[in-house]
Amino acid sequence: MSERPLSGGRITPGVVQIGDTVRRPTSLRSEFVVELLRLLEQRGFEQAPRYLGQDDAGRDILTYLDGQVPVRFQQWTDTQVAAFGRLLRAFHDATRGSRLAGDHEVVCHHDPGPNNVIFRDELPAALIDFDMAEPGSPLEDIGYAAWTWCVASKEPLETQPGQVKVLVDAYGLAGSQRDAVVDAILDRQLRNARFWTETTVEVTDHQRAERIAWSHREHAFTTTNRQAFEQALA
Ligand SMILES: Nc1ncnc2c1ncn2[C@@H]1O[C@H](COP(=O)(O)OP(=O)(O)O)[C@@H](O)[C@H]1O
Ligand SMILES: [Mg+2]
Repeated sequence: MSERPLSGGRITPGVVQIGDTVRRPTSLRSEFVVELLRLLEQRGFEQAPRYLGQDDAGRDILTYLDGQVPVRFQQWTDTQVAAFGRLLRAFHDATRGSRLAGDHEVVCHHDPGPNNVIFRDELPAALIDFDMAEPGSPLEDIGYAAWTWCVASKEPLETQPGQVKVLVDAYGLAGSQRDAVVDAILDRQLRNARFWTETTVEVTDHQRAERIAWSHREHAFTTTNRQAFEQALA
């Protein structure tokens, strides 16, 4: 059967579709990802690929999920953001108290931007790309998601704080943790800059510099508008 390259990701070269499967070169994270996908299956979480084993080329085989993955970050409607908040919550809940979560509250996806979400009928429908997943606090994913779904320094501030609230409300974050959301956003922006500084992922020097600069720009924008975000969440 023929292989169709699945471009769009920025990290893993060689992801392809064969029939109704995806083949992904294994990585150092594969073992954890396999266990995570099995856990999600056991716990009845349907909005992620299933793990089907390894092929002869040593690649991980996953189910191909129908739908669209956005090619770039853009402005989303409140309906889309709320649907993603519920999806993220369902994912975290499916990992809570598991052996994989260990001493932590949940397993975090750690890269839950729109670029790792399958949309159907214009709505977030499934999560993909669990290579960064590790035990952690839900706030780590909420911070990253708030940034990548709702905050953009190149757009007017206007509706952004309200949309972070939409995300956090749909997620159902406990009142006591809402104070920590803005710090979580700022933390993820700095962590992203660090990631692109240190990563061995193959990128050109120009791409690397751009992604680091973007993360710092977003961090400065969030810092400047901190009060507006905090007020919306209060
Ligand atoms: N299970 C899947 N179902 C459908 N498409 C997928 C699936 N896994 C990956 N893709 C497609 O392949 C692209 C790259 O895969 P991804 O796992 O996100 O790699 P990267 O680590 O490069 O971000 C995605 O943007 C998506 O378009
Ligand atoms: Mg990806």
